[in-house]
Amino acid sequence: MPDLKTLVIDDEQLICWSFQQNLGKRGHKVYTASSAEEGLNIFKKVLPDIVFLDNKLPHMQGLELIELLKNINEDVYIVFMSAYGSVETAVKAVKSGAYDYINKPFDFEEIYVVLDKIIQKIKCRNEVQLLRRNRSEHLVFKHIIGQSTEMKNILNMAEVISRSQATTVLLLGESGTGKDLLARAIHNESLRNTKPFVTINCASLPETLLESELFGHEKGAFTDAHRQKKGLFEIADGGTVFLDEIGETSLAVQVKLLNIIENRVFRRVGGTVDINIDIRIIAATNQDLQELIHLKKFREDLFYRLKVFQLTLPPLREHREDIPLLIKFFIENFNNQFRKSIKGITPAAEMILMQYDWPGNVRELRNVVERAVLLESGEYLQAVHFPVEIRKQDQPLDTKNINTWFEIPDEGFSLYELEKEIIKQTLFKTKNNQTKAAKMMGISRDALRYKIKKYRI
Ligand SMILES: Nc1ncnc2c1ncn2[C@@H]1O[C@H](COP(=O)(O)OP(=O)(O)OP(=O)(O)O)[C@@H](O)[C@H]1O
Ligand SMILES: [Mg+2]
Repeated sequence: MPDLKTLVIDDEQLICWSFQQNLGKRGHKVYTASSAEEGLNIFKKVLPDIVFLDNKLPHMQGLELIELLKNINEDVYIVFMSAYGSVETAVKAVKSGAYDYINKPFDFEEIYVVLDKIIQKIKCRNEVQLLRRNRSEHLVFKHIIGQSTEMKNILNMAEVISRSQATTVLLLGESGTGKDLLARAIHNESLRNTKPFVTINCASLPETLLESELFGHEKGAFTDAHRQKKGLFEIADGGTVFLDEIGETSLAVQVKLLNIIENRVFRRVGGTVDINIDIRIIAATNQDLQELIHLKKFREDLFYRLKVFQLTLPPLREHREDIPLLIKFFIENFNNQFRKSIKGITPAAEMILMQYDWPGNVRELRNVVERAVLLESGEYLQAVHFPVEIRKQDQPLDTKNINTWFEIPDEGFSLYELEKEIIKQTLFKTKNNQTKAAKMMGISRDALRYKIKKYRI
């Protein structure tokens, strides 16, 4: 673990020096302090993972420091160092929260044993945290469905961006077009994928909370801040922060974001030290940022910073050719989820989904397929299981696919009634303009007049 931060608090210069030499060789970062006060200050600033704490310090005993450190960061591992023979003190130390103790004088081999044990624990804890945070951890580009030129272009660009050094990416697109999905895939396919992907929904947090969530806070920064807390930016160090619904942030937070993007440093709320971080920021919104800038709700400078790499996901109605693929994909998904074995969709039902305008984009399509899979008792999805607003689409159908217009009901039907209905609907559509209606149906005006008489329309 090269990025492991250790702090040695000991007034013996030689001890500090030998820690620096030995742990430094293993690639760990070693900070040292020769008094409790100095140790506390450094601790607050760097939040080390491990502290090697000597008991005999000027002014304050190491034992008393344990609780203070744990109060600031309860996750820290403290290794207590005390003179050989003072077992009682060591036991007290463990009782107050130290993870382990070492008798002085020690051999570095002993330190390595303790260290490796702790590293194992930290790795384990990090993995659990990562798993909890990224439920769709393995989501990659190939899980994003789309063979249309629009989608292929987006995915190609996203792939290039993900592997590049680009540190800010802006994802635009209507609700349900897949911004979330794309942000995760960009992270998972980047070199940062072993580090956290942290999502923060800017719309769902009040401003004060948003700030402390993002930047963390110092102990006592506000009434409820009983202890120091790392912000999401700090947790995500080395990884990606996904700022969802960026259009919802207040102007005050926007200033801070701009500062992070430009300088890669920030301060915890109530803090006085600058903290450096290495993160990629992916921001997303379904709002029109230009419009928000116009309304003075979004900073223009932040917009220009964010939009260096900008990807706009197209609305589903602009890449309808992907609909059949998406339907197939979702049927397979829901078959698995609901233990069903739907084989596909009837051509007529598919045609209806191809014609619909999908204001809710892929999310809406996914919901429609989910519902239909649940309701379908046959082998193929049928239009009867679609919500009415989708079924009653009255857009012109593609005559090339005339065979897919309707399904023949099992109980049969009347051809006479069918023709009558078609003529009625065409006339309705053309507002009773017989010339237009005849043209739409591909017959002469006279033929239409004859039929109108025949069917008494
Ligand atoms: N190209 C796609 N392939 C497969 N699934 C998709 C695709 N696009 C979107 N989805 C699915 O559609 C749903 C909505 O996608 P997502 O949450 O990424 O949308 P969004 O753009 O973030 O929407 P919002 O602006 O409302 O947050 C998700 O269930 C997602 O898995
Ligand atoms: Mg989203």
